[in-house]
Amino acid sequence: MDITSTSVWQQLSQHADTMKSQRMAKLFETDPARADEYTIDAAGLYLDYSKNLIDSRALELLLDLATSVGLGEQIQQMYRGERVNITEGRAALHTLLRSRFDSAPTTLQQEAQEVASTLQRMKNISNDIRNGKWRGASGRPLKSIIHIGIGGSYLGPKMVAEALAPYADSGITAYYIANVDGQHIEDVLGEVDPNETLIVIVSKTFTTTETMTNAHTARQWLTESIPGANPGNHLIAVTSNSEAATAFGLYEANILPMADWVGGRYSLWSAVGITVAITHGFELFAALLRGAEAMDRHFLEAPFSENMPALLALIGVWYHNFYGTETHAVIPYDHSLRLLPAHLQQLDMESNGKSVTLDGTPVTCTTGPVVWGGEGTNGQHAFHQLLHQGTRLVSLDFIVAFRAHHRHLHHHDLLVANCLAQSEALMNGQQTEDIVASLRQSHMTESEVQALAPHKTMTGNRPSNTIVMPQLTPESLGALIALYEHKVFFQARIWQINPFDQWGVELGKALSETIYDQITDDHAELKHDPSTNKLVKLYKTHRNSA
Ligand code: F6P
Repeated sequence: MDITSTSVWQQLSQHADTMKSQRMAKLFETDPARADEYTIDAAGLYLDYSKNLIDSRALELLLDLATSVGLGEQIQQMYRGERVNITEGRAALHTLLRSRFDSAPTTLQQEAQEVASTLQRMKNISNDIRNGKWRGASGRPLKSIIHIGIGGSYLGPKMVAEALAPYADSGITAYYIANVDGQHIEDVLGEVDPNETLIVIVSKTFTTTETMTNAHTARQWLTESIPGANPGNHLIAVTSNSEAATAFGLYEANILPMADWVGGRYSLWSAVGITVAITHGFELFAALLRGAEAMDRHFLEAPFSENMPALLALIGVWYHNFYGTETHAVIPYDHSLRLLPAHLQQLDMESNGKSVTLDGTPVTCTTGPVVWGGEGTNGQHAFHQLLHQGTRLVSLDFIVAFRAHHRHLHHHDLLVANCLAQSEALMNGQQTEDIVASLRQSHMTESEVQALAPHKTMTGNRPSNTIVMPQLTPESLGALIALYEHKVFFQARIWQINPFDQWGVELGKALSETIYDQITDDHAELKHDPSTNKLVKLYKTHRNSA
């Protein structure tokens, strides 16, 4: 089915055209209950989606759109463990990772058993390291962790660790390394004592160049720094390729599994979270899972009209496909969530940056927006100018926690005030006549007033969602991340694409291997395009003369 040729798509398109002349402020005037009606509570989160260019008709059509593609059944299929990732013939069972054993689907008992046993191993390992029972080669307890991974094997756990920093209670410091740029590992190795350092290598495939390069460097550093000692107790791996991990020198007991039905960007709930469990405690990790599970249940059970991920997804589709917005910004007013935009960028763009539908035919509408963002209030002094007065419409999520973890209430009041002010300013703007009236109160001449007014005019009518949580806790963070995972899935199925593969990253990896071989071989023949050939030659000349 070509979604864009359906009657509901056409109706949405026509309705969007009529909505484009509407003012959001007017929608509040005509519907005094809007601020109550266009909100939803789920899994400890509160979403206010009232400041959007939508009305009840738009919502009705968007919900029809979801029903027309059979989204209810598609969600069930994912939860049941069907092979929804059709190009890799795999299930996508991140929901099982956070499901309590007794509520896992009956068809998935074996997988649920594996999840439970991995969690038990994570609990034992993290407790042993935290209480000093697990010791390094020199008999000393471990005080630092170098977590090596990239993409989902890195961003998710690092983001969670930073978001929940107020709960980190082990006195063990974790350093997360992803980039193959040797500067990062050099900086980290300079800060830690090898006798007290654990290296956690996280790679589903155990072949990713960046991760394996960093892992080899770290292992070499270990063996050179603790001569004669067995570094086995300093190494943990999380992978689905246990053979490669064993060959690398890992003890079998130190290899935690990653199932093939967990995609990298959905994997923070798996043993990939071992570093978080060590630094923040297994109980915190379990609470993170519980928060996500609460959102999973909501997503599975709530009707779409009251379903937070579904509504967030549909609002995104509304702007992306019917208003032509190309980018979506996520702006947490929370320093602890500063890495969330990067995590969501990977989640969304690696999932939905696709040009063909599930059956391999080209999509007929645009998919996956460019996702970006940054922490508030910092962005207000950087990119918010474009949000308020730029020529592009950007859809936005503001995220804020009402209670802080610190004792500086004055700071928190200001932070929250700024967050709420931004969505208000985006919606209402500042109209030319008001600016003119206010400038006339000043010492300016009339021609100066008229010259300046257009520059100060803010058209407003710019949409945003606001997601509120009482406090940033392991549970609310779990729910928040799961919210976005489900939003991305929901949108993927509207666009009829596969959010669980990422074939587009492969070509660059293969070419980089070829170029690496040519860089390190003086006699290599270069068969690239003229530009790439020249750049390779330039680098080789530079490298050899350095
Ligand atoms: O970027 C592609 C990708 O496969 C991601 O999906 C994944 O998170 C990352 O690389 C790392 O892969 P691995 O865990 O196999 O090292």
